[in-house]
Amino acid sequence: RFKAVIFDLDGVLTDTAHYHYLAWKRLAESLQLPFDQAYNEQLKGIDRMGSLELILAQGRRSYTAQEKLALAEQKNQHYQTLIADMTPADLLPGAVAALQRVRAAGLGIALASVSKNAATVLERLGITGHFDYVVDAAAIARGKPDPEIFLTAAQALGVAPADCLGVEDAVAGVAAIKAAGMTALGIGHPFVLTRADVVITSLADFNLAAY
Ligand code: G6P
Ligand code: MG
Repeated sequence: RFKAVIFDLDGVLTDTAHYHYLAWKRLAESLQLPFDQAYNEQLKGIDRMGSLELILAQGRRSYTAQEKLALAEQKNQHYQTLIADMTPADLLPGAVAALQRVRAAGLGIALASVSKNAATVLERLGITGHFDYVVDAAAIARGKPDPEIFLTAAQALGVAPADCLGVEDAVAGVAAIKAAGMTALGIGHPFVLTRADVVITSLADFNLAAY
């Protein structure tokens, strides 16, 4: 019943969500700010500067815009070190099979990640060619939970939002999909992704006909 599937990247197709977590943790520790997996849950899917604001809000001091840019750059360097050695072996179970099944069903495929490293990660994973359209994160004015990135992807594919299935591991991402008027497939836990239409543990359980 869908005409297109729009995938998130980090935490859906590969475990870079964990690398983002490790990179933020390293930055937070250098600033002596508290940071753990539970707090990280609300950072998932949030763009770089937005994530930094959430981390800095845990402390008392304020930072100038210039200091914030430098801190975001530090985090990005930690992150780029972590993704430097990625290969197709870092694809999560079921990821390529899901892309292949969507293609075989004749649907459009887009990537909606707010990560400015998304194109690099797709290349390292060897899956760039699976996508009809990859949203340029730099061209998005409002990050998730705003629907802009998913609506941009649907428009580029020439498909109405109601005919799209969005796939997300983040609370903010599921909110963006629903705000776009699409069906949301959550990857993770139903207690966390409460607004998703369906939640599966991983793409290994992906079954297009069931949504
Ligand atoms: C994705 C991840 C976030 C990350 C954001 C920006 O949405 O889920 O954890 O903060 O991309 O990534 P970037 O690579 O641009 O710093
Ligand atoms: Mg994600």
